[in-house]
Amino acid sequence: MKYKGIIFDLDGVICFTDKYHYLAWKRLADKLGIYFDETINNRLRGVSRMESLEIILEKSTKKYSKEEKEDFAEQKNKMYVELLEDMTPADLPKEVKTTLDDLRKQGVLLAIGSSSKNAKRILKHLGLENYFDAISDGTNITKSKPDPEVFLKAAEYLQLEPQECLVVEDAVAGIKAATDGGFDSAGFGEASECEMTTYPLSGFAELRNIN
Ligand code: G6P
Ligand code: MG
Repeated sequence: MKYKGIIFDLDGVICFTDKYHYLAWKRLADKLGIYFDETINNRLRGVSRMESLEIILEKSTKKYSKEEKEDFAEQKNKMYVELLEDMTPADLPKEVKTTLDDLRKQGVLLAIGSSSKNAKRILKHLGLENYFDAISDGTNITKSKPDPEVFLKAAEYLQLEPQECLVVEDAVAGIKAATDGGFDSAGFGEASECEMTTYPLSGFAELRNIN
């Protein structure tokens, strides 16, 4: 492996919380009488909670105050956290765990770079609370992806330069963040179709082939 460190996005890369985010936002949107579907949900990947809410409110005819918006975001998060309760280590794909273990054996430092404020909670559910060498998440950043801050912080925590790290992402916003921060990137799903992605991949185990 030519990189000293790998920084993994969490949602959509290590585990699949998209469905829970969707359900929680859908319940809130239904309650407010706002149209929301999976296509709009796709735009929320990698985007912070408040920015996600703003995207959902684009379909609303009503204007809401800052306090109302904060209340909506809190309601959504409460529902999301309840849904996360069902997550167990069985939700960590085997391919992900064995690949992470192999990379670690090669001496690569492993970090999380996620916009989520629930990252540590999710890692705990998956049985990975003490697994990573560093965690940079929604609690230590002021700007979410596509700003590179979350990955720059992760590299700093690993005491590595961006050029020494690979960022692994499923969202175009994350690939933009990685590129702007000076990182090479590997992308799955929509991120594999992005022309800025250094290594377009179709499966997690393919990370082992990057050398
Ligand atoms: C990740 C997800 C986004 C989510 C964001 C904030 O980046 O891909 O869909 O909006 O985290 O999550 P949070 O758990 O803080 O609401
Ligand atoms: Mg993601």
